[in-house]
Amino acid sequence: MTKRETWLFAVVCTLLAGGTFIALTIHSHTRFDDITNTENLTPKVKAGMKVWHSYNCVNCHTIFGEGAYYAPDLTNITDQRGKAYLKAFLKKPSRFYSEEEYGRVMPNLDMTDQEIDKVIAFLDWISEVKTNGWPPRPIRVTGEAIASAGQERPQEADDQDADPVAKGRRVFNDSQIGCNACHSTSQGVTIVGPSMAGLQSRASQLLASGDYTGDAETAKAYIRESIVEPDAHILEGQNFSTNGTSLMPGDYAERMSETQLDNLVAYLMTLE
Ligand code: HEC
Ligand code: HEC
Repeated sequence: MTKRETWLFAVVCTLLAGGTFIALTIHSHTRFDDITNTENLTPKVKAGMKVWHSYNCVNCHTIFGEGAYYAPDLTNITDQRGKAYLKAFLKKPSRFYSEEEYGRVMPNLDMTDQEIDKVIAFLDWISEVKTNGWPPRPIRVTGEAIASAGQERPQEADDQDADPVAKGRRVFNDSQIGCNACHSTSQGVTIVGPSMAGLQSRASQLLASGDYTGDAETAKAYIRESIVEPDAHILEGQNFSTNGTSLMPGDYAERMSETQLDNLVAYLMTLE
């Protein structure tokens, strides 16, 4: 190349790269409303953000990976835990773990019910922001979850022709669905909800006992009902419900396909 050609080459390449950069930047800006669901930014969500700041939640927690690393990332917490549980948790966090055993993990912030409602609305909006799957790992908190942190992890490898039970296990451990954040599969370990060990035989006993309040007639139907309609029969346990509403999220019917649900039930039926 002559000197002049080299010069031309450099200028053209710089212009092309610069132009692409500017075009992509403009493109990103046109998509912010869509990515962040601007239309859902209600006054309540904004008030919730003020609550979030006024209690310095970010001194311990992260959102989108930003903040402090003392406590779990809360980007997807409303999907993972459901609002009923979050309400009860924020009212009195120590209700869900033993302070004696673990020390003070999440402080009791003495928030009012209105503040709790608002901050949950804020976290719910956060969970709808499109983040390409961030943060990448499941959250395991509260009480025994710390002890059972070595529980099974989802396996990605044999996805294609795995049997329903293996597929169901993956649904159970999926970080967006989050059954394993509240349920252990080890015998006798209560996280937020009861252990799933021995579920099938426990279900049969319950159906035969006369205390059962739902519509199921078989253990299989009972397990399915427990997932899609937690309030059909609420188990007794001081931390399982508030005012007759289960702390388990009530929206799984909308968040799972029929096949995922079938596989999940098949998996839970096998736990001894
Ligand atoms: C002093 C540190 C600290 C502050 C401040 C704090 N948290 Fe936490 N939070 C924690 C810790 C630690 C945990 C994990 C608790 C556990 O493992 O059970 C936690 C857990 C949580 C959870 C998850 C509960 C679960 O079981 O999944 C939520 C939701 C939460 N905090 C919300 C908040 C909100 C909202 C604020 C502000 C209003 C806040 N936190 C302020 C330390 C803090
Ligand atoms: C926020 C915590 C939470 C999450 C998340 C959660 N559960 Fe639950 N679950 C509970 C609580 C609390 C109970 C007991 C109260 C009741 O009967 O609804 C329960 C009860 C159950 C029962 C009845 C258990 C029995 O012994 O009869 C089944 C089955 C169950 N859950 C399955 C699931 C599955 C599957 C998922 C994921 C799709 C899931 N849960 C997600 C909290 C949770």
